Amino acid sequence: MSQTQYPFKLEPLPYAENALEPCISAKTLSFHYGKHHAGYIDKLNGLVKETPLAGLSLEKIVEATAGDASKTAIFNNAAQAWNHAFYWNSLRPRGGGQPPKEFFTILEKSFESFDHFKSQFTAACTTLFGSGWAWLVLDKDVLKVVKTPNAGTPLTNGQVPLLVVDVWEHAYYLDYQNRRPDYAKALISELLNWEFAYSRYSESLSGSGTSPR
Ligand code: FE2
Repeated sequence: MSQTQYPFKLEPLPYAENALEPCISAKTLSFHYGKHHAGYIDKLNGLVKETPLAGLSLEKIVEATAGDASKTAIFNNAAQAWNHAFYWNSLRPRGGGQPPKEFFTILEKSFESFDHFKSQFTAACTTLFGSGWAWLVLDKDVLKVVKTPNAGTPLTNGQVPLLVVDVWEHAYYLDYQNRRPDYAKALISELLNWEFAYSRYSESLSGSGTSPR
């Protein structure tokens, strides 16, 4: 399991920086991973150094600081570090398409149809105001599409994240400028890592943890 304790490290991407082209360019991935994600981890390490929080896992830091106005900066950087690691795993080269049959059936039951799920997920990506994240989560035993602003994460709502799309402008602006709907459409149709989502779902039902990897 990665990202267990201070000092937190930038884990390797699960694919090459050009592996998600043409949907996400190597230039975008290089900046997003190498500057933004790395920056959150560097800032977090500086903030928790020589504090009791340095003894906690990344997830525990997120949970311990959520809603604490005196620890907003720590929460923001910890949650962004976790969310980004989860985002890289939510995508894969030659992804998208239809989920594995078992999970396709579960999605159909939860959202009436797979197309209806895609519509809801696309709407979450495109209607979130400002910066944030669109998620597929397991909420108790129900699949839901939710969105979180800024560094928000379903980890603090008792929900199990299964997939996420980063809709901060830094995720798409070099490739799509202001066309967030085109970015969302490309990721949902070409890059979503359904095997990852299904494994998260199965692990959750069997009582495993909520680590991104
Ligand atoms: Fe991001």
